Amino acid sequence: MSNTVIIGAQWGDEGKGKIVDMLSAQSRVIVRFHGGNNAGHTIKVNGQETVLHLIPSGILHDNTLCLIGNGVVLDPGTFLEEVDALAGKGIDVSPARLGMSKKVHLIMPYHKSLDKAREAKRASNKIGTTGRGIGPCYEDKAARVGLRAGDVSNPALVREKVRRALLEKNILLRDLYKFDPVDAEATCDELLGFAPRLISYFTDVEQRLHEAAEEGEGVLFEGAQGVHLDIDHGTYPFVTSSNTVAGSAATGSGIGPCAFDRIVGIAKAYTTRVGAGPFPTELLDDTGSYMRAKGAEFGATTGRPRRCGWLDAVVLRASVRLNGLTDIALTKLDVLQNLPELRICVAYMFEGRRIDKLPQEEGALAAVEPVYETLPGFEEDISGCTVFDVLPESVRKYVRRVEECVGVKISIISVGPERTQTIVRS
Ligand code: IMP
Repeated sequence: MSNTVIIGAQWGDEGKGKIVDMLSAQSRVIVRFHGGNNAGHTIKVNGQETVLHLIPSGILHDNTLCLIGNGVVLDPGTFLEEVDALAGKGIDVSPARLGMSKKVHLIMPYHKSLDKAREAKRASNKIGTTGRGIGPCYEDKAARVGLRAGDVSNPALVREKVRRALLEKNILLRDLYKFDPVDAEATCDELLGFAPRLISYFTDVEQRLHEAAEEGEGVLFEGAQGVHLDIDHGTYPFVTSSNTVAGSAATGSGIGPCAFDRIVGIAKAYTTRVGAGPFPTELLDDTGSYMRAKGAEFGATTGRPRRCGWLDAVVLRASVRLNGLTDIALTKLDVLQNLPELRICVAYMFEGRRIDKLPQEEGALAAVEPVYETLPGFEEDISGCTVFDVLPESVRKYVRRVEECVGVKISIISVGPERTQTIVRS
């Protein structure tokens, strides 16, 4: 069995949930390695929709072991709500099937308050965060003052860390941002109230991955967000607070970097983005609205309408390099039906020159003009196609041209939200 990493190759929301769900059928162990409940994976099975924010999408398959690695930041209340919601649907979420590393950092109520307070204070330069406390939690991790899941076994340590954190954060919240301060006792009581259930999920993720390797079982590493939201390689500062590239699958789960056999980038057949930040191929016209409506492009986590635009091959080429992608899964191809023509951005014009790579200076991507190639559109309903050769000629041409522009094979094509609406190319 092979170890596969799945990452979003654009700005998130590429439909990773469905592909992870599909590939989970071939892996017994699935691990999330970064981000938190800023992610939202929507999976549709037999007409029933499930939205997951924290728990790996592989949970919907029987006999999988789903793990939350050290690189994740976890909101304890949200995690337990998600566990209860899945249990309510009859899904086994017992600790035999679901585990988290004790090294996971916990998102505290003051992280969420700070996230919202800072966004409210930023006048014209809002990042458009999900407001889930992700950034402030990673800040505390880097500042070495964070609470880790394992701490909840030690109430005195929790009280001491929360008290110390609030000495600083309540000054910021009250005096700088004019927000309500956070009560230390109530915060600790709430967290310690969650402790027995959280503790039941603790596991040594590194050990479990090591055992999977020894037993020859494939592991699926489930990325969240997208490459261009990466804190280092993304469109800084309009990024999330973790490394979203495939390399973080190793650091965020506790496995060596040579462990991966396959790295699949998930890319939509067009492009979307939520929140602020440069987006060269964004369409503010009827075509963009058509994609949003037909593709149901509203955030699974925040419900915000997503910005929509043409597929950007420059962005995808960067993803291939930054992640060492072995192949691409192209999703939501059916959404492009009935558009009179299809466009692919193959390069940019920047300061009077044609460039075929992403500029690296802050703000430069906002100043580029896309260079498009135009291909014929298609009117046929492709949502029932499960074989590549049965797709209309214009659709096959579009897929092949994207492959040429990007430089890796498109191995999976999704033509609808159901598990069955998928083309796997050999
Ligand atoms: P944060 O991750 O909540 O700090 O938000 C930072 C930026 O990343 C914002 O533009 C968010 O909209 C974006 N973002 C975070 N998570 C996701 C995701 O799962 N999909 C798409 N965008 C995301």
